Amino acid sequence: MTKLIAPSILAADFANLQRDIEMVNASEADWFHIDIMDGVFVPNISFGMPVLKAITKHAKKFVDVHLMIVDPDRYITEFARLGANNLTVHYEACTHLHRTLQAIKAEGMLAGVAINPHTNISLLEDVINDIDVVCLMSVNPGFGGQSFIENTYNKIKQLKALISKRNAKTLIEIDGGVTDKNAQALIATGADVLVAGSFVFSSADPVRTIQNLKSLTKNEF
Ligand code: DX5
Ligand code: ZN
Repeated sequence: MTKLIAPSILAADFANLQRDIEMVNASEADWFHIDIMDGVFVPNISFGMPVLKAITKHAKKFVDVHLMIVDPDRYITEFARLGANNLTVHYEACTHLHRTLQAIKAEGMLAGVAINPHTNISLLEDVINDIDVVCLMSVNPGFGGQSFIENTYNKIKQLKALISKRNAKTLIEIDGGVTDKNAQALIATGADVLVAGSFVFSSADPVRTIQNLKSLTKNEF
């Protein structure tokens, strides 16, 4: 399967948001990755519904929304209405995760589950067949521009083993600290989707940076 690149809009220039969205539209990127933070689940606040609405108005690619918020069930219908194609909730923020996943799918979206660096893969065993995308946090969520946590490679291997053991079709997404230094190794280990924020948006030529990341995912292993 083709491997996917998902630029994280958290690192875009919010004063030039439309310009940066058009850049992603024109690039080889596959998904928009949109980080919603509530200042409670994570120690930072990013942006909410009005900004997401402005983004989806211009975005011409798959919209991947990553909720770093407590009690996400409150807003599932609203995120579907605003144009999310995949809605990812945090394992650590959901008391009734199975119910939450069904509610996301009932709204016509793909259902994602993100896990923090300390959360063990085995905890997903009984819901893996209900998850379209597992987002492995390769930094502690809350901020862009952090260093990649190397233990992520072990987690990719464990998750891949779980997915094949359960005969699931779940995609493995890596979020945090992705660069041209680790992209190829992450794909070789089993990742399907690479999120990249600061590496893309702080580069001199983001379209070229995305093209470069995409080509790294196509190398033979
Ligand atoms: C972190 C967010 C990430 C972040 C990635 O809490 O979930 O999506 O934007 O940013 P970089 O690529 O800069 O680590
Ligand atoms: Zn994210």
